[in-house]
Amino acid sequence: ATPSPIDPQNIQGDILSGLPKKTETYIFFQISDDVSAFRSQLTHLVPLVTSTAQVLKDRDAIANHKQSKKPGLVEISGLNIAFSQSGLTKMGLTDDVQDAGFKAGMLADAQALGDAGTTANSKFDPNWVPAFKNPVHGVIFLSGDCHATVSKRVRQVEQIFKVGAHDATIHEVLRIVGDVRPDKESGHEHFGFLDGISNPSVQGFDSAPPPGAPAQVQPGVILLGRDGDSVPVGSRPSWTLDGSFLAFRYLFQLVPEFNEFLEKNPVQLPGLTPKEGSEFLGARLVGRWKSGAPLDLAPLKDDPALGADSQRNNSFNYTADSTDFTSQTRCPFAAHVRKTNPRNDLKQAFGADVAKNRIIRRGVQFGPELTELEKKEKKTQNGRGLLFVSYQSTLANGFQFLQKSWANQETFLGRAGVTKPGLDPIIGQSNTDPTLREMVGSDPDHPTNQLKFPQEWVVPRGGEYFFSPSIPALRDTIAE
Ligand code: HEM
Repeated sequence: ATPSPIDPQNIQGDILSGLPKKTETYIFFQISDDVSAFRSQLTHLVPLVTSTAQVLKDRDAIANHKQSKKPGLVEISGLNIAFSQSGLTKMGLTDDVQDAGFKAGMLADAQALGDAGTTANSKFDPNWVPAFKNPVHGVIFLSGDCHATVSKRVRQVEQIFKVGAHDATIHEVLRIVGDVRPDKESGHEHFGFLDGISNPSVQGFDSAPPPGAPAQVQPGVILLGRDGDSVPVGSRPSWTLDGSFLAFRYLFQLVPEFNEFLEKNPVQLPGLTPKEGSEFLGARLVGRWKSGAPLDLAPLKDDPALGADSQRNNSFNYTADSTDFTSQTRCPFAAHVRKTNPRNDLKQAFGADVAKNRIIRRGVQFGPELTELEKKEKKTQNGRGLLFVSYQSTLANGFQFLQKSWANQETFLGRAGVTKPGLDPIIGQSNTDPTLREMVGSDPDHPTNQLKFPQEWVVPRGGEYFFSPSIPALRDTIAE
C-alpha cells in the first residue's frame, strides 16, 4: 500500500501544478569531479526548490492580483532540479530506479524515437546540438514573471555552485531561455494553437478537476512509488517515492513552412474560402482549432468561446466518431491530440484503457515571433519551437510510448475501413522511410484520401531523460 497521502510540500512544483511562468531558463549542467563539494552545496539549493505547496500559494497570489486589477504582474519565481542517470551515477547513487529508458538515456533512444540522423551503413548520428550528444548530468530550471526576476534567481544558483570560479562544481553545457508568446498568442505554441489544455488530473491531488475524459488517473501514473505505478509499490529505492521522470525534448518548429503547407492544401468544402479551408486543415492535423476548441465538439467551425472555456474544452471522448468505426468525420484518427491521447477509442475497440499512458506536459516556447522576411520568403531563418517537458512514472508507458508506438506508427488507431490512419502530422517521424509521413482523413468529405507531408515541421535537436526527485529525497539522500 502507498505510505501516506500525497503531501504537496514534498513534490517539486512543476510536476503536479506547473511552475507559473512568462519565461523559463533551463540550465543543463555537468557535475565537476569534486562531487562531494557539489553534494554539500546542494544543501543550499534545496531551500530554493519550489514545492507544489508553494506553487498553489503563488497561483492564489496571481489570481488575487488579477482580481485587484492592479497593473503589471506579481513578482513570482520558481526553481526545480532534476538529474539524469549519468548524473545520479556520478554522485554515486547507483541503486536501480527500474526504468530502462531513463538508465540508457535519450541519446541511446534517438534512433528508436525516429530522430533524423545518418542511418545507411554508418553509425546512427542524430542531428542534435552537441550539448545533448555528451553526458548531461542534470538540469536546473527557473521560471518567473519576467527576465529580471529569473536573472536574480540564476545568480543565486551560480553563487551556490561557484559558477565561473576555478572550483565551480557545475559546468553549464547549455542554457536555453523559453518565453511564453506575446499578447493574444500567450498560451499558444508557435504554429498558433492553444496548448496546455489537456493534462490528466491526479487522484488525491486535484480536488476539482475540470470536466475531462477519461476520468482522473491514479497518482502512480505520474509519481513513482504511488498506487498506479507500473513498478510494484515498494520495489523501487525508497528515495524515489514522489519523484517523476522528466522527458525533455528540444523541438524546433518550422513555422513558415507549416503555414505554407496549409496555404497550399486547403480542405475544399462547399462554402469554405481558401483561407478557411487552410485553417480547417490545420485543425484537422492537430485535432483542435487554434482557439483550443476540439474538433470532436466543433467539427466544422471554430468556436472560440468553447476553446477558452476550461469547463467544456476538454470534455469529449471521440464517442460521436467511434460509434461508427470507419468514420473520422469529426476528428481524424491521425490528428495529433487523438494519436497522443485516444481517450475512448481503444476502450471502444478493444476494451483497452489508456490511463497508464497519460503524461503531464509542461512545456514552454522558445525563439522569436516570425519576422516579415520569414513570412515573405516562407522559410525559417530563426530557431523557434517548443521546450517539451513531460512527467510520467514509467517512460516506456509515457513519452516513449506516445512517440514510438502511437505518433510514429501509421497503423495506430487503424480499424476496419481505415487500417492505416498515418503518422501524427505534427510529431510523427521516421528515420528509415520519410515517405511514411502521410495521413488519411484530413478531408472529411473524402476520408480515405491520402495527404502527403513534404517534410517534418517539428525537428528534434536533442533532449534527455531526467528524474525529478521529491524534496525530501533531495534534502536527505542527494544533498549531503
Ligand atoms: C496536445 C502541440 C509535441 C503529446 C497538444 C495540443 C497542441 C500540441 C496544440 C492541443 C492542446 C492540448 O490538448 O493541451 C504540440 C506541438 C508539439 C508537440 C506543436 C511539438 C513542437 C508533443 C510531443 C508529445 C505530445 C513530443 C508526446 C510524445 C501531447 C499530448 C497532448 C497534446 C499527450 C494532449 C492530448 C489530449 O489529451 O487530448 N499538443 N505538441 N505533444 N500533445 Fe502535443
